[in-house]
Amino acid sequence: MRLIFLGPPGAGKGTLSTLAKERLGIPHISTGDLFRAAIKQGTLLGRQVQEIVSTGGLVPDELTVAIVREKLDSPEVAKGFILDGFPRTVKQAEALSSFCKLDHVISFDLAREELLQRLGGRLVCKNCGAVYHRVNRPPKVEGVCDFCGGVVAVRPDDEPEAIVRRLDLYDEQTAPLLDYYQQKNILRRLDASPAPEVVLESLLAIIQA
Ligand code: AP5
Repeated sequence: MRLIFLGPPGAGKGTLSTLAKERLGIPHISTGDLFRAAIKQGTLLGRQVQEIVSTGGLVPDELTVAIVREKLDSPEVAKGFILDGFPRTVKQAEALSSFCKLDHVISFDLAREELLQRLGGRLVCKNCGAVYHRVNRPPKVEGVCDFCGGVVAVRPDDEPEAIVRRLDLYDEQTAPLLDYYQQKNILRRLDASPAPEVVLESLLAIIQA
């Protein structure tokens, strides 16, 4: 099963990917996670994208496409994948279509005020990347990851200015992909507002229908 999780920042794509990959037995590939890992490791890629990612901009298409292409060439995706956060522009979608056939593109639908509430309260583990929320899903011990004991903190691009920039860029650059995939007849709409476990069941029903 080859799936794209498409949706605005904060819609729950990462949270649902973590739940769905277990149920579907396929890997989760997040371009955001790949960039954050490169930044943390201080690689050449990390140094190239650090400023862009932390201020909520978009990494250039050519660079992003090359990284995804390499991932999709690897044997680990033989049974399929969940691609989260890619494509984000029509150019990226066109490039992807030249080397990969998709089964479903899932659109995570959520109102802007709810997105702001989720992003404004999000916390992430600096070590393993586990995602929390101050109100909806706090770690058991404040500031400490339940899974690895790492430090749980605000993501640099979850500062208010970067959040607004990311949401605006989504509307300008990524939302046109809804029409793009609708025309290819592989777009599936998902109400992302219920609790994650409920969203998961809706998602599974959509892709197994
Ligand atoms: P990326 O990491 O992809 O960020 P994003 O798309 O902005 O998505 P988020 O991680 O913010 O949100 P999410 O939908 O995964 O929500 P989450 O599950 O965390 O990209 C980061 C950056 O990398 C980009 O800004 C860009 O610079 C660069 N980049 C990445 N891909 C690129 C590309 N293709 N091209 C160019 N540049 C690229 O949930 C959010 C919060 O809500 C959490 O606190 C969570 O606990 C909570 N929550 C989740 N689901 C629920 C629910 N159902 N109910 C209640 N709370 C919930």
